[in-house]
Amino acid sequence: MMTISIPAVHSIINERISKRALDPDRPVTPETLLSLIEAARWAPSCNNEQPWRFIFWDKNKDQSNWHKAFSCLAEGNQIWVQHAPVLAVSLAYQLNKKGLPNYWAQYDTGAAALNLCLQATALEMIAHQMGGFDPKQLMEAFSLPETITPMSMIAIGYPGDTQRLPEKLQIREMAQRERRPVNELFFESSWNHPIKN
Ligand SMILES: Cc1cc2nc3c(=O)[nH]c(=O)nc-3n(C[C@H](O)[C@H](O)[C@H](O)COP(=O)(O)O)c2cc1C
Repeated sequence: MMTISIPAVHSIINERISKRALDPDRPVTPETLLSLIEAARWAPSCNNEQPWRFIFWDKNKDQSNWHKAFSCLAEGNQIWVQHAPVLAVSLAYQLNKKGLPNYWAQYDTGAAALNLCLQATALEMIAHQMGGFDPKQLMEAFSLPETITPMSMIAIGYPGDTQRLPEKLQIREMAQRERRPVNELFFESSWNHPIKN
């Protein structure tokens, strides 16, 4: 049988990891934040609509609004996000330039968020996306219009001491990362016809 060697992926893809141990004492400079923003800004989008919106909360600049955003997170996230110097939310603006529903708004917002995460990886930072938050609470807290859908909150900062995490999270932090096999998710020519690797 022929063996196909698996191609290596770019190191930035390998190195992007959703770590939880954040350094509470290392703030994110405005320049660094702008670099993450720039990365998100250059994401591709359908018709170049750029439907993403982001709100950032810097704990060192505006503790009150940082806390307001933090309070929207699920308890399981708050345990480790408490050390994040910056919090963000990615938002999808649901209408296109013509005022019609944009089917790709959420898809494109995900692309922008991933661009931000990859840029953070390049800067040896952590950008950890979270679905564990209350979108309704967030919308009310920050008076977001109905045309906006909150997609993910993102904890941003620098790697910290894993030992400061609760034991359960330390174990998760050290665990081997896993992915489903190629043949479960990637098909050739027709539905459910797996690509063999
Ligand atoms: C949309 C989205 C929501 C997520 N929600 C959470 C979350 O609420 N809490 C958390 O700790 N991690 C969350 N994660 C991180 C995932 O658990 C993580 O991406 C996944 O386990 C793969 O690990 P990796 O990012 O290190 O490759 C989320 C990731 C994404 C993209």
